[in-house]
Amino acid sequence: MRPAHKPASRSADLFARAKGSIPGGASRSTVLTEPHPIYIAEGRGAWLTDIDGNRYLDANNNFTSIILGHADPAIDAAVREQLSRGTAYSMATSIEIELAELLTGRLKSVDQIRFCNSGTEAVMGAIKAARAFTGRPLIVKVEGSYHGTYDHAEASLDPDPTEWGDAGSPTTVPYAGGAPTSVANEVAVIPFNDAEAARTTIRAVGERCAAILLDPMPSRVGMPTVTPEFLRSIEETAREVGALVILDEVISFRLAHGGAQEKLGISPDLTALAKIIGGGFPVGAVGGRADVMAVFAKQGGNRAALPSGGTFTANPVTMTAGLACMEQLDSDAFDRLDAIGTRCRTGLTTGFDAGSIAWQVTGAGSLFRIHPNKRAIRSYRDTRHSSDEAASMAELQRHLLEREVYLSDYGMGCWNLATTDDDIDLFVDSVISSIGALRL
Ligand SMILES: Cc1ncc(COP(=O)(O)O)c(C=O)c1O
Repeated sequence: MRPAHKPASRSADLFARAKGSIPGGASRSTVLTEPHPIYIAEGRGAWLTDIDGNRYLDANNNFTSIILGHADPAIDAAVREQLSRGTAYSMATSIEIELAELLTGRLKSVDQIRFCNSGTEAVMGAIKAARAFTGRPLIVKVEGSYHGTYDHAEASLDPDPTEWGDAGSPTTVPYAGGAPTSVANEVAVIPFNDAEAARTTIRAVGERCAAILLDPMPSRVGMPTVTPEFLRSIEETAREVGALVILDEVISFRLAHGGAQEKLGISPDLTALAKIIGGGFPVGAVGGRADVMAVFAKQGGNRAALPSGGTFTANPVTMTAGLACMEQLDSDAFDRLDAIGTRCRTGLTTGFDAGSIAWQVTGAGSLFRIHPNKRAIRSYRDTRHSSDEAASMAELQRHLLEREVYLSDYGMGCWNLATTDDDIDLFVDSVISSIGALRL
């Protein structure tokens, strides 16, 4: 522990107070670090400062939504200018069109786009668009993959081994308490990177299948590298049965100028976006082929097949921030993000090897995930932590906080463009020394 690190006493006090008015003490369960959440006073560049005056290198970046750095000057200036003219109107603004044009210009498969306010809504909107377009109810998704909190999208997010069922054809397990049991009839689950299993399941649900929902590098599945065979089997079998492919690029859009779809050479029918496209503000979007996206538009005076709206949808503050952010993300920016991520992953792998530590790191671009084991990470079942592994990861998070680093408690992280090579070296040293201090 650095001598400057102060016990987070004001954060502890605030948490005690928060539990009175907020169940569990926070509206967002992921902020619940042990023994209490850390309340942040400000973020600048790659660093956060808490209300007790402690600083933390941010290895999470609001779960991958901050890409330039905290308090980016260009976003700050653009948003202030918009704020002085109002934050939300019940009429249209031109800035929505500018951001839509930027995004359709970057994503080859996206002719048109509709905005919303979160990745959850984007995925839900994409599923509903696929249902409206095909007239079919069912989706296929990957076991363990996180796509937000819509009931169908979160099925089989974190099933217990006792509920898994067959490896090639996993049981669909509704996630939230009280979720409709019909979810199990409307969602079929496949293991990641198993081309044969995907083909068999998609064919089996055949004419009931509206879409296959896929995150190409799912963080909860361990950030494995997707195989071309798996992608091909999904694309081909979807076409065979008349279903659509929805690519969830809520996180993976930060992998390349044209998103993961550009890197992988695939052309989904629909794409869900969120996080970085809001420049630090709440956002989501569904994009896709014009004939599919037509379900959102009124046809000949009738209501749209899929009406969509939202009081704060495409509000000018989010649109302004998103545009100011995305305009800075040129190909040099993605090269730098790749370089930062590579330095991190290489540094960790070298440190694990040098210390004979049986851990590993996966990921790509600015994204990484640390695993407290050496199992081959192919799918959710390889990645799921045992209770000892979960305890090690929670302890790692605590040790890192004492070393002025914030990482999620399951080892998923990412970097923003304000992160320096020295920051990355500090992170790598902190992870290696923290693992050395774990009671394994
Ligand atoms: C791949 C993926 N899809 C969807 C979501 C949901 O996004 P949001 O938290 O903005 O609702 C997330 C959130 O982390 C995500 O990682």
